[in-house]
Amino acid sequence: MNKKLEQRFLEEVDLLQGGNAYLRSVKNVSDIIAQESFSKEELITLLQAEGQERALLFDAAHARKIEFVGKQVYFRGLVEFSNICSKDCLYCGIRKSNEKVIRYEASDEEILGACRFAWENRFGSVVLQSGELSSPAFTERVDRLLKAIKQLSNEELGITLSCGEQSRETYQRWFESGAHRYLLRIESSTPDLYNQIHPQNVHHSFEKRLECLQLLKDCGYQVGTGVMIGLPFQTMEHLAADLLFLKKLDVDMVGMGPYIEHEDTPLYVFRDQLKTKQERFDLALKMIAALRLLMPDINIAAATALQAIDPAGREKALKIGANVIMPNLTPCDFRKEYQLYEDKPCLDEDAELCRNCLEARVEMAGGEIGYGEWGDSRRFVNRRQGSSH
Ligand code: 5AD
Ligand code: FES
Repeated sequence: MNKKLEQRFLEEVDLLQGGNAYLRSVKNVSDIIAQESFSKEELITLLQAEGQERALLFDAAHARKIEFVGKQVYFRGLVEFSNICSKDCLYCGIRKSNEKVIRYEASDEEILGACRFAWENRFGSVVLQSGELSSPAFTERVDRLLKAIKQLSNEELGITLSCGEQSRETYQRWFESGAHRYLLRIESSTPDLYNQIHPQNVHHSFEKRLECLQLLKDCGYQVGTGVMIGLPFQTMEHLAADLLFLKKLDVDMVGMGPYIEHEDTPLYVFRDQLKTKQERFDLALKMIAALRLLMPDINIAAATALQAIDPAGREKALKIGANVIMPNLTPCDFRKEYQLYEDKPCLDEDAELCRNCLEARVEMAGGEIGYGEWGDSRRFVNRRQGSSH
Protein backbone atom coordinates (compact mmCIF):
# COMPACT_ATOMS: atom_id res chain seq x y z
CA MET A 1 0.00 0.00 0.00
CA ASN A 2 1.30 3.44 -0.78
CA LYS A 3 1.71 5.89 2.04
CA LYS A 4 -1.35 7.97 1.23
CA LEU A 5 -3.66 4.98 0.96
CA GLU A 6 -2.30 3.51 4.15
CA GLN A 7 -2.94 6.75 5.97
CA ARG A 8 -6.53 6.86 4.70
CA PHE A 9 -7.11 3.26 5.65
CA LEU A 10 -5.89 3.93 9.17
CA GLU A 11 -8.06 7.00 9.48
CA GLU A 12 -11.11 5.07 8.40
CA VAL A 13 -10.45 2.30 10.89
CA ASP A 14 -10.04 4.94 13.56
CA LEU A 15 -13.30 6.54 12.65
CA LEU A 16 -15.12 3.24 12.64
CA GLN A 17 -13.74 2.13 15.97
CA GLY A 18 -14.29 5.55 17.53
CA GLY A 19 -17.80 5.66 16.15
CA ASN A 20 -18.61 2.23 17.54
CA ALA A 21 -17.15 3.08 20.90
CA TYR A 22 -19.21 6.24 20.94
CA LEU A 23 -22.41 4.40 20.09
CA ARG A 24 -21.62 1.81 22.72
CA SER A 25 -21.09 4.39 25.38
CA VAL A 26 -24.24 6.33 24.45
CA LYS A 27 -26.16 3.14 24.97
CA ASN A 28 -24.36 2.62 28.21
CA VAL A 29 -25.35 5.95 29.66
CA SER A 30 -28.94 5.64 28.48
CA ASP A 31 -29.14 2.18 30.06
CA ILE A 32 -27.58 3.33 33.28
CA ILE A 33 -29.81 6.34 33.78
CA ALA A 34 -32.92 4.17 33.58
CA GLN A 35 -31.75 2.18 36.61
CA GLU A 36 -32.48 2.89 40.25
CA SER A 37 -29.22 1.68 41.71
CA PHE A 38 -25.73 1.93 40.32
CA SER A 39 -22.40 0.21 40.67
CA LYS A 40 -19.22 2.21 41.17
CA GLU A 41 -18.26 1.59 37.54
CA GLU A 42 -21.62 2.82 36.32
CA LEU A 43 -21.30 5.96 38.38
CA ILE A 44 -17.86 6.58 36.92
CA THR A 45 -19.37 6.26 33.44
CA LEU A 46 -21.94 8.90 34.39
CA LEU A 47 -19.27 11.21 35.79
CA GLN A 48 -17.29 10.90 32.58
CA ALA A 49 -20.24 11.55 30.28
CA GLU A 50 -19.54 14.13 27.58
CA GLY A 51 -21.56 15.67 24.76
CA GLN A 52 -24.78 13.84 24.07
CA GLU A 53 -24.28 11.48 27.01
CA ARG A 54 -23.87 14.39 29.36
CA ALA A 55 -27.12 15.90 28.06
CA LEU A 56 -28.88 12.57 28.63
CA LEU A 57 -27.63 12.46 32.21
CA PHE A 58 -28.77 16.02 32.92
CA ASP A 59 -32.20 15.48 31.36
CA ALA A 60 -32.74 12.30 33.33
CA ALA A 61 -31.70 13.98 36.59
CA HIS A 62 -34.05 16.87 35.92
CA ALA A 63 -36.94 14.51 35.19
CA ARG A 64 -36.23 12.47 38.34
CA LYS A 65 -36.15 15.65 40.41
CA ILE A 66 -39.53 16.84 39.09
CA GLU A 67 -41.01 13.39 39.63
CA PHE A 68 -39.83 13.00 43.22
CA VAL A 69 -39.54 16.48 44.73
CA GLY A 70 -41.31 18.73 42.23
CA LYS A 71 -40.12 22.06 40.92
CA GLN A 72 -40.22 23.78 44.28
CA VAL A 73 -36.96 25.43 45.32
CA TYR A 74 -36.49 26.16 49.02
CA PHE A 75 -34.57 29.07 50.46
CA ARG A 76 -32.32 28.73 53.49
CA GLY A 77 -31.10 32.12 54.69
CA LEU A 78 -27.43 31.62 55.50
CA VAL A 79 -25.99 33.44 58.52
CA GLU A 80 -22.24 32.91 58.93
CA PHE A 81 -22.26 34.18 62.48
CA SER A 82 -18.61 33.67 63.43
CA ASN A 83 -15.37 32.76 61.66
CA ILE A 84 -13.52 31.85 64.84
CA CYS A 85 -12.44 28.25 64.33
CA SER A 86 -10.45 25.67 66.25
CA LYS A 87 -9.85 23.53 63.16
CA ASP A 88 -7.01 23.66 60.68
CA CYS A 89 -8.34 21.90 57.58
CA LEU A 90 -5.70 22.20 54.88
CA TYR A 91 -8.10 23.60 52.25
CA CYS A 92 -10.05 26.16 54.24
CA GLY A 93 -9.47 29.91 54.10
CA ILE A 94 -10.67 30.52 57.66
CA ARG A 95 -8.56 27.75 59.21
CA LYS A 96 -7.18 28.52 62.63
CA SER A 97 -3.61 29.10 61.40
CA ASN A 98 -4.54 31.70 58.80
CA GLU A 99 -3.45 34.81 60.60
CA LYS A 100 -4.52 37.10 57.79
CA VAL A 101 -8.18 36.61 58.63
CA ILE A 102 -9.76 39.16 60.92
CA ARG A 103 -11.84 37.09 63.30
CA TYR A 104 -15.38 38.20 64.06
CA GLU A 105 -18.38 37.19 66.00
CA ALA A 106 -21.69 38.73 64.97
CA SER A 107 -23.71 40.13 67.86
CA ASP A 108 -26.99 38.53 68.92
CA GLU A 109 -28.72 41.58 67.53
CA GLU A 110 -27.11 41.16 64.11
CA ILE A 111 -27.85 37.45 63.96
CA LEU A 112 -31.43 37.83 65.07
CA GLY A 113 -31.87 40.77 62.66
CA ALA A 114 -30.79 38.53 59.76
CA CYS A 115 -33.18 35.81 60.94
CA ARG A 116 -36.01 38.30 61.26
CA PHE A 117 -35.31 39.36 57.67
CA ALA A 118 -35.57 35.72 56.61
CA TRP A 119 -38.84 35.29 58.45
CA GLU A 120 -40.37 38.54 57.15
CA ASN A 121 -39.39 37.58 53.62
CA ARG A 122 -40.91 34.12 54.05
CA PHE A 123 -37.67 32.24 53.54
CA GLY A 124 -38.97 29.31 55.59
CA SER A 125 -35.65 28.44 57.21
CA VAL A 126 -32.25 29.75 58.19
CA VAL A 127 -28.85 28.10 58.42
CA LEU A 128 -26.59 29.20 61.26
CA GLN A 129 -23.02 28.43 60.27
CA SER A 130 -19.76 29.15 62.07
CA GLY A 131 -16.25 27.99 62.60
CA GLU A 132 -15.98 25.04 64.96
CA LEU A 133 -15.78 25.77 68.68
CA SER A 134 -16.81 23.59 71.58
CA SER A 135 -16.42 25.82 74.63
CA PRO A 136 -19.34 25.90 77.07
CA ALA A 137 -19.77 29.60 76.23
CA PHE A 138 -20.20 28.78 72.52
CA THR A 139 -22.59 25.91 73.17
CA GLU A 140 -24.61 28.13 75.46
CA ARG A 141 -24.71 30.97 72.97
CA VAL A 142 -25.99 28.80 70.12
CA ASP A 143 -28.61 27.41 72.46
CA ARG A 144 -29.78 30.90 73.38
CA LEU A 145 -29.87 31.96 69.73
CA LEU A 146 -31.97 28.95 68.77
CA LYS A 147 -34.58 29.77 71.37
CA ALA A 148 -34.59 33.45 70.40
CA ILE A 149 -35.05 32.64 66.69
CA LYS A 150 -37.98 30.38 67.46
CA GLN A 151 -39.49 33.09 69.61
CA LEU A 152 -39.07 35.95 67.15
CA SER A 153 -40.60 33.92 64.33
CA ASN A 154 -43.60 32.56 66.14
CA GLU A 155 -41.95 29.14 66.00
CA GLU A 156 -42.20 29.36 62.23
CA LEU A 157 -38.60 29.53 61.01
CA GLY A 158 -36.91 26.20 60.47
CA ILE A 159 -33.33 26.15 61.75
CA THR A 160 -30.36 24.27 60.33
CA LEU A 161 -27.07 24.31 62.21
CA SER A 162 -23.63 23.96 60.69
CA CYS A 163 -21.24 24.28 63.62
CA GLY A 164 -18.99 21.28 63.20
CA GLU A 165 -18.20 18.32 65.41
CA GLN A 166 -19.77 18.39 68.86
CA SER A 167 -20.60 15.97 71.66
CA ARG A 168 -23.81 13.95 71.79
CA GLU A 169 -25.02 16.14 74.66
CA THR A 170 -24.49 19.33 72.69
CA TYR A 171 -26.23 17.99 69.59
CA GLN A 172 -29.10 16.80 71.75
CA ARG A 173 -29.39 20.09 73.58
CA TRP A 174 -29.44 22.12 70.38
CA PHE A 175 -32.02 19.77 68.90
CA GLU A 176 -34.27 20.26 71.91
CA SER A 177 -33.85 24.03 71.62
CA GLY A 178 -35.18 24.10 68.07
CA ALA A 179 -32.57 23.04 65.51
CA HIS A 180 -33.97 20.28 63.34
CA ARG A 181 -31.39 19.96 60.58
CA TYR A 182 -27.61 19.75 60.75
CA LEU A 183 -24.98 20.04 58.05
CA LEU A 184 -21.63 18.35 58.53
CA ARG A 185 -19.72 17.53 55.39
CA ILE A 186 -17.64 14.39 55.23
CA GLU A 187 -15.47 16.26 52.65
CA SER A 188 -14.26 12.93 51.25
CA SER A 189 -15.58 9.48 52.15
CA THR A 190 -12.21 7.85 51.43
CA PRO A 191 -10.19 7.85 54.66
CA ASP A 192 -6.85 8.15 52.84
CA LEU A 193 -7.95 11.20 50.90
CA TYR A 194 -9.59 12.67 54.00
CA ASN A 195 -6.26 12.33 55.77
CA GLN A 196 -4.40 13.99 52.91
CA ILE A 197 -6.51 17.13 53.18
CA HIS A 198 -6.56 17.38 56.96
CA PRO A 199 -3.79 17.64 59.55
CA GLN A 200 -2.79 14.32 61.05
CA ASN A 201 -4.03 14.74 64.59
CA VAL A 202 -6.93 13.75 66.82
CA HIS A 203 -8.77 16.97 66.09
CA HIS A 204 -9.16 16.02 62.44
CA SER A 205 -10.18 12.41 62.56
CA PHE A 206 -12.23 10.74 59.85
CA GLU A 207 -13.71 8.31 62.37
CA LYS A 208 -14.83 11.16 64.61
CA ARG A 209 -16.54 12.84 61.65
CA LEU A 210 -18.41 9.63 60.88
CA GLU A 211 -19.33 9.17 64.50
CA CYS A 212 -20.75 12.70 64.62
CA LEU A 213 -22.92 12.02 61.57
CA GLN A 214 -24.33 8.99 63.36
CA LEU A 215 -24.91 10.96 66.58
CA LEU A 216 -26.83 13.56 64.62
CA LYS A 217 -29.07 10.89 63.14
CA ASP A 218 -29.62 9.35 66.57
CA CYS A 219 -30.67 12.73 67.97
CA GLY A 220 -33.38 13.01 65.31
CA TYR A 221 -31.90 15.66 63.03
CA GLN A 222 -32.35 15.71 59.29
CA VAL A 223 -28.74 15.16 58.43
CA GLY A 224 -26.88 16.80 55.59
CA THR A 225 -23.40 16.05 54.43
CA GLY A 226 -21.34 16.43 51.28
CA VAL A 227 -17.95 16.48 49.66
CA MET A 228 -15.67 18.78 47.73
CA ILE A 229 -15.19 18.01 44.07
CA GLY A 230 -11.90 18.43 42.25
CA LEU A 231 -9.63 18.16 45.28
CA PRO A 232 -5.96 17.49 44.73
CA PHE A 233 -5.29 13.71 44.68
CA GLN A 234 -8.99 13.00 44.03
CA THR A 235 -9.95 10.49 41.32
CA MET A 236 -13.21 9.48 39.66
CA GLU A 237 -13.17 6.36 41.85
CA HIS A 238 -13.11 8.57 44.94
CA LEU A 239 -16.08 10.56 43.70
CA ALA A 240 -18.10 7.48 42.74
CA ALA A 241 -17.32 6.08 46.21
CA ASP A 242 -18.57 9.35 47.71
CA LEU A 243 -21.91 8.95 45.96
CA LEU A 244 -22.26 5.39 47.21
CA PHE A 245 -21.30 6.55 50.70
CA LEU A 246 -24.10 9.15 50.69
CA LYS A 247 -26.55 6.47 49.68
CA LYS A 248 -25.32 4.00 52.27
CA LEU A 249 -25.48 6.58 55.05
CA ASP A 250 -29.01 7.33 53.84
CA VAL A 251 -28.61 11.07 54.32
CA ASP A 252 -31.50 13.51 54.02
CA MET A 253 -29.65 16.42 52.46
CA VAL A 254 -26.49 16.97 50.48
CA GLY A 255 -24.46 20.07 49.77
CA MET A 256 -21.45 19.57 47.56
CA GLY A 257 -19.51 21.88 45.35
CA PRO A 258 -16.21 22.36 43.60
CA TYR A 259 -13.03 22.68 45.60
CA ILE A 260 -11.58 26.14 45.06
CA GLU A 261 -8.00 26.80 46.04
CA HIS A 262 -7.22 29.52 48.58
CA GLU A 263 -3.77 31.03 48.58
CA ASP A 264 -3.43 31.19 52.37
CA THR A 265 -3.89 27.45 52.83
CA PRO A 266 -1.40 24.56 52.71
CA LEU A 267 -3.20 22.82 49.82
CA TYR A 268 -2.45 25.82 47.60
CA VAL A 269 0.93 24.28 46.71
CA PHE A 270 -0.94 21.67 44.68
CA ARG A 271 -2.78 24.22 42.56
CA ASP A 272 -0.92 23.21 39.41
CA GLN A 273 -2.18 19.64 39.72
CA LEU A 274 -5.83 20.60 39.79
CA LYS A 275 -8.37 20.25 37.00
CA THR A 276 -9.30 23.65 35.56
CA LYS A 277 -12.00 25.48 37.47
CA GLN A 278 -14.36 24.89 34.57
CA GLU A 279 -13.69 21.14 34.71
CA ARG A 280 -14.27 21.09 38.44
CA PHE A 281 -17.49 22.98 37.94
CA ASP A 282 -18.66 20.56 35.28
CA LEU A 283 -17.77 17.59 37.41
CA ALA A 284 -19.72 19.09 40.30
CA LEU A 285 -22.80 19.34 38.07
CA LYS A 286 -22.41 15.71 37.06
CA MET A 287 -22.06 14.69 40.71
CA ILE A 288 -25.32 16.50 41.51
CA ALA A 289 -27.11 14.89 38.56
CA ALA A 290 -25.82 11.40 39.42
CA LEU A 291 -26.82 11.90 43.05
CA ARG A 292 -30.35 12.92 42.05
CA LEU A 293 -30.65 9.64 40.14
CA LEU A 294 -29.23 7.68 43.05
CA MET A 295 -31.24 9.40 45.81
CA PRO A 296 -34.26 10.95 44.10
CA ASP A 297 -36.13 12.15 47.22
CA ILE A 298 -33.42 14.01 49.15
CA ASN A 299 -32.76 17.74 49.31
CA ILE A 300 -29.74 18.83 47.31
CA ALA A 301 -28.32 22.32 47.72
CA ALA A 302 -26.97 24.38 44.88
CA ALA A 303 -23.67 25.16 46.61
CA THR A 304 -22.42 28.74 46.64
CA ALA A 305 -18.99 27.55 45.47
CA LEU A 306 -20.60 26.79 42.07
CA GLN A 307 -21.33 30.48 41.69
CA ALA A 308 -17.72 31.36 42.50
CA ILE A 309 -16.75 29.70 39.21
CA ASP A 310 -19.76 30.43 37.02
CA PRO A 311 -22.06 33.40 37.70
CA ALA A 312 -25.04 31.22 36.73
CA GLY A 313 -23.64 28.19 38.55
CA ARG A 314 -26.37 27.72 41.10
CA GLU A 315 -29.13 28.06 38.53
CA LYS A 316 -27.44 25.44 36.39
CA ALA A 317 -27.45 23.15 39.42
CA LEU A 318 -31.15 23.82 40.01
CA LYS A 319 -31.86 22.77 36.44
CA ILE A 320 -30.18 19.40 36.80
CA GLY A 321 -31.13 18.18 40.23
CA ALA A 322 -30.64 20.65 43.08
CA ASN A 323 -33.71 21.98 44.93
CA VAL A 324 -32.31 24.15 47.74
CA ILE A 325 -30.53 27.48 47.57
CA MET A 326 -28.91 29.39 50.40
CA PRO A 327 -29.15 33.17 50.04
CA ASN A 328 -26.43 34.82 52.08
CA LEU A 329 -27.82 36.89 54.95
CA THR A 330 -24.51 37.41 56.73
CA PRO A 331 -24.12 41.10 57.63
CA CYS A 332 -22.09 42.62 54.77
CA ASP A 333 -19.20 43.84 56.93
CA PHE A 334 -18.38 40.28 57.90
CA ARG A 335 -18.64 38.59 54.52
CA LYS A 336 -15.12 39.26 53.34
CA GLU A 337 -13.83 37.59 56.49
CA TYR A 338 -15.75 34.41 55.74
CA GLN A 339 -13.79 33.52 52.65
CA LEU A 340 -13.50 29.77 52.70
CA TYR A 341 -12.19 29.94 49.12
CA GLU A 342 -11.25 32.48 46.45
CA ASP A 343 -13.87 34.54 44.60
CA LYS A 344 -16.66 33.80 47.05
CA PRO A 345 -19.67 35.60 45.53
CA CYS A 346 -22.08 38.19 46.95
CA LEU A 347 -19.42 39.84 49.08
CA ASP A 348 -20.96 43.26 48.83
CA GLU A 349 -24.62 42.72 48.10
CA ASP A 350 -27.06 43.43 50.85
CA ALA A 351 -29.59 40.79 51.75
CA GLU A 352 -32.49 42.40 49.91
CA LEU A 353 -30.53 42.66 46.70
CA CYS A 354 -29.46 39.09 46.99
CA ARG A 355 -33.05 37.97 47.48
CA ASN A 356 -34.31 39.80 44.42
CA CYS A 357 -31.61 38.48 42.18
CA LEU A 358 -32.19 34.97 43.49
CA GLU A 359 -35.90 35.11 42.83
CA ALA A 360 -35.32 36.01 39.20
CA ARG A 361 -32.64 33.36 38.90
CA VAL A 362 -34.80 30.57 40.32
CA GLU A 363 -37.58 31.46 37.92
CA MET A 364 -35.16 31.50 35.03
CA ALA A 365 -34.12 28.01 36.00
CA GLY A 366 -37.75 26.88 35.74
CA GLY A 367 -38.21 26.62 39.51
CA GLU A 368 -40.81 27.95 41.87
CA ILE A 369 -39.84 29.26 45.30
CA GLY A 370 -41.43 27.44 48.22
CA TYR A 371 -42.02 30.63 50.22
CA GLY A 372 -42.73 30.21 53.89
CA GLU A 373 -42.18 26.46 53.84
CA TRP A 374 -39.60 24.46 55.72
CA GLY A 375 -39.11 22.28 52.69
CA ASP A 376 -38.12 19.21 54.68
CA SER A 377 -36.30 16.44 52.92
CA ARG A 378 -38.88 14.09 51.39
CA ARG A 379 -36.65 11.20 52.23
CA PHE A 380 -36.72 12.12 55.91
CA VAL A 381 -40.50 12.47 55.90
CA ASN A 382 -40.95 9.19 53.99
CA ARG A 383 -38.61 7.35 56.33
CA ARG A 384 -40.45 8.63 59.39
CA GLN A 385 -43.83 7.74 57.98
CA GLY A 386 -42.51 4.33 57.02
CA SER A 387 -41.27 3.62 60.55
CA SER A 388 -44.52 4.75 62.21
CA HIS A 389 -46.61 2.18 60.33
N1 5AD B 1 -13.22 25.13 48.44
C1 5AD B 1 -14.50 24.69 48.44
N2 5AD B 1 -15.19 24.44 49.57
C2 5AD B 1 -14.57 24.66 50.74
N3 5AD B 1 -14.99 24.49 52.00
C3 5AD B 1 -14.01 24.86 52.84
N4 5AD B 1 -12.92 25.25 52.13
C4 5AD B 1 -13.26 25.13 50.82
C5 5AD B 1 -12.57 25.37 49.61
N5 5AD B 1 -11.31 25.82 49.59
C6 5AD B 1 -16.28 23.89 52.35
C7 5AD B 1 -16.08 22.61 53.15
C8 5AD B 1 -16.77 22.90 54.45
C9 5AD B 1 -17.76 23.97 54.06
C10 5AD B 1 -18.24 24.80 55.19
O1 5AD B 1 -17.04 24.75 53.13
O2 5AD B 1 -16.70 21.52 52.49
O3 5AD B 1 -17.42 21.78 55.01
FE1 FES C 1 -12.30 22.98 58.67
FE2 FES C 1 -12.82 25.57 57.82
S1 FES C 1 -11.23 24.85 59.19
S2 FES C 1 -13.69 23.68 57.12
